[in-house]
Amino acid sequence: MTDAYAVFGNPVAHSKSPLIHAAFARQTGQDMHYAALLAPLDGFAEAVAAFRAAGGRGANVTVPFKEQAFSLATRLTARARAAGAVNTLRFDADGMLGDNTDGAGLVADLLGNLGVGLAGKRILLMGAGGAARGVVMPLLEQAPASLYIVNRTPDKAISLAREMAADSAILSGGGYDALDGRFDLVINATAASLAGDLPPLPAEVFAADALAYDMMYGKDTPFLAFARARGARVADGLGMLVEQAAAAFEVWRGVRPLTAPVMRLLREA
Ligand code: ATR
Repeated sequence: MTDAYAVFGNPVAHSKSPLIHAAFARQTGQDMHYAALLAPLDGFAEAVAAFRAAGGRGANVTVPFKEQAFSLATRLTARARAAGAVNTLRFDADGMLGDNTDGAGLVADLLGNLGVGLAGKRILLMGAGGAARGVVMPLLEQAPASLYIVNRTPDKAISLAREMAADSAILSGGGYDALDGRFDLVINATAASLAGDLPPLPAEVFAADALAYDMMYGKDTPFLAFARARGARVADGLGMLVEQAAAAFEVWRGVRPLTAPVMRLLREA
C-alpha cells in the first residue's frame, strides 16, 4: 500500500511541498503519496488524528500550527526542542516524533548550495518570531564569530538570545538602532517581506562579499533589492524550502534525496 504523508497548514493551497516530495519520491523510488491538507484554525490536532487514523505515516506542519505540533508530539528531537516548534511529525507505533528541519534546511542551503561557510563569520539575523527561533541553534552549531538577533521590538530579540543559553559574546540581541559594524551574512526572518516592507537596516550593514538571505521565496523582496544595491550577493529561501523538505523526507524514509534537480524544477515552474 502507498504510504501517505501530508502538509497541514492554513492556508495551505499555495504550498510547494507536494511537488517537492513527489519529485523526491520519484527520484528515490519510494512508494508514497503527499497531499496538502487544510486544517481548521481551531482543529489542528483533530485533523492530524484523523489523518493518522486513516493510515497517514507522517506530516509536515506549516503556519500557523508549528507550536501546536510541538505540543502534540510525544517525543521531540533536540533541534525541535531548541526551536520550540515542529515542522515534521512522524507517526510511530509508540507515539509521534516531532522534529524541526527548518534550521538544518537553511544551513544546508548556505553551505551546500550557496557555498557560504559560516565558521568565523559575523551573522545578523533579523526577526525574533518563530522563523528566527527555528534557525538560531543550527546557525550557532556552525561556530560563527558572532550571531546578532535584531528585532523591531528589541526586547524579543534580547530574550530570544538569552533563552538559547549560548555564550553572550557570540549570541546577543537588540534593536536596529543598536546595530554595530558590518556583517558577512544578513538573514531576513521577519514577516516584513510578506508586507512588501523593508526592515530599518543601516545602509552600511554589509561587509565585503556579504550574502543577503531572505527566507521568503518566489519574488524579489525590498530587502534583497536593498542588499543588491549595496553590492551584496543575494539569495531567496527556495533552497531552504527544498533542503528542509529533504531533511523531513529522510526522517520519514531513511533516504536522503538529491535537492539540486528539485530546485531546478521549482525555479523553472
Ligand atoms: P514568524 O513565525 O514568521 O516568525 P512572527 O512570530 O509573527 O512570524 O514574527 C514576525 C517577525 O517579523 C517579528 O520578529 C516581527 O517583529 P516584532 O517582534 O517587532 O513584531 C517581524 N516584523 C514583522 N513586520 C516587520 C517589519 N515591517 N519590519 C521589521 N520587522 C518586522
